[in-house]
Amino acid sequence: PVLVVDFGAQYAQLIARRVREAQVYSEVVPHDTPVEEMLRRDPAAVVLSGGPASVHEEGAPEVDDALFRAGVPVFGICYGFQAMTKALGGTVERTGTREFGRTDLTVCAAGGTLHQELPEHHPVWMSHGDSVSEAPDGFRVIAETADTPVAAFENPELGLAGVQYHPEVAHSPHGQGVLRRFLHEIAGIRPRWTTTSIVDETVSAIREQIGDARAICALSGGVDSAVAGALVNKAIGDRLTCVFVDHGLLRSGERTQVERDFVAATGARLVVIDAVQQFTDALAGVTDPEEKRKIIGREFIRTFEQAARDLQTEAGEAGERIEYLVQGTLYPDVVESGGGTGTANIKSHHNVGGLPEDLQFDLVEPLRALFKDEVRRVGSELGLPETIVQRQPFPGPGLAIRVIGEVTQQRLATLRAADAIAREELTAAGLDHDIWQCPVVLLADVQSVGVQGDGRTYGYPVVLRPVSSEDAMTADWTRLPYEVLERVSTRITNEVSEVNRVTLDVTSKPPGTIEWE
Ligand code: XMP
Repeated sequence: PVLVVDFGAQYAQLIARRVREAQVYSEVVPHDTPVEEMLRRDPAAVVLSGGPASVHEEGAPEVDDALFRAGVPVFGICYGFQAMTKALGGTVERTGTREFGRTDLTVCAAGGTLHQELPEHHPVWMSHGDSVSEAPDGFRVIAETADTPVAAFENPELGLAGVQYHPEVAHSPHGQGVLRRFLHEIAGIRPRWTTTSIVDETVSAIREQIGDARAICALSGGVDSAVAGALVNKAIGDRLTCVFVDHGLLRSGERTQVERDFVAATGARLVVIDAVQQFTDALAGVTDPEEKRKIIGREFIRTFEQAARDLQTEAGEAGERIEYLVQGTLYPDVVESGGGTGTANIKSHHNVGGLPEDLQFDLVEPLRALFKDEVRRVGSELGLPETIVQRQPFPGPGLAIRVIGEVTQQRLATLRAADAIAREELTAAGLDHDIWQCPVVLLADVQSVGVQGDGRTYGYPVVLRPVSSEDAMTADWTRLPYEVLERVSTRITNEVSEVNRVTLDVTSKPPGTIEWE
């Protein structure tokens, strides 16, 4: 792999994604990973990421110069560029001037290898205080800016290069090309990380892991479990059983998507469990958000365990044990849980992942190495329909955490109808790719006066919560066109008789979370 050394900003995962977009497999490692350990993984190259520190600070993370003697190509970005300069004997100065944001880059020395054929002046995204004033010996300076004499350098013979700016962000329009030239030309790596190769490699890894045993997979209706299930199905066929628990908290059409579309696309064996009554009873009278989440998590586990036991009994008669449980864990979760930095538990997320250990399955996690966009591409490659592959995130506890107040069948029906209209209109307006998701929330304990038809009504408000986000950690409210808002509002109040008011949530995250509960 290409190892992306994380110097502690948010950029490392983005860089890893960009490296993969150049069709080269990459992994993120923490900056305190010893060089010997990196070398043990036989990296095709190492990329040093940006980070918040200054190389002049006491205790600032450093790059062990042994890395540069190992014959491994290295690319430094921002802080990584400065740390690299320092380790190689160049000069990093505290200039006192800060470059932040869009900056004009001037290409020098005909651009060298990295900047070849780029316009002499082009914009890049900067974010730094210190500057490199002198490149290390043997390095060619290939760009500068008004405030930074050395904005990029390279030594292609040694496979070393670096840039002060952030090539990984969209605000550096030529950034991806620069990264690609480093990987393909300076580091000489053959681009072979493609969707087809991902599928092939993953399928053979699954076959090797599972052997002749059987596996079970809980489908949630979401992208990740669907793609994980489809991959395992491709690998072991009907030795996989998929289980879908209908808890009655789904949106309109979601059960069909799994029951009909997933099966049609994959031919997988599917068991659908109707647990609507069980969840309705368990949620009766409950209004506290955390309590709702806990109940749903608990009931889900119970139902799934029972299904697993039933299947086990059936399979047992044929003499085969179900040994594996398929999970849709993604690479960012792997990086983040390995990162060790504890984040506060804001909401207890319910995922299929919360299954108890005494189920005694071994885990199969076919998406463990993949980013979300790769998962979607793999899903398409496996023939899953757009409705599944491009599906926006939907929380495990479903509509229960979008009915504010007690959850009843009637309230769910109201919310489901309003939600279907909002989704339909957003799709019709071509906005699905501009928004991350748009929860519709029913304020079931609030009533207000309205006039609908000829009479006074006393109905419920719904809230539209359109958000834009990269990763759901932070989000901004999406400025939807007024015409679209108008259509959604008119249709909901006309077609859903219990609702007489449509409101818009204009809170970013933080301070608001995306979901209301
Ligand atoms: P919040 O509300 O925490 O949501 O800003 C962040 C993202 O996570 C989704 N979400 C969940 N997903 N199980 C899930 O699988 C959950 O319990 C859960 N709660 C929130 C939410 O839709 C948003 O995309």
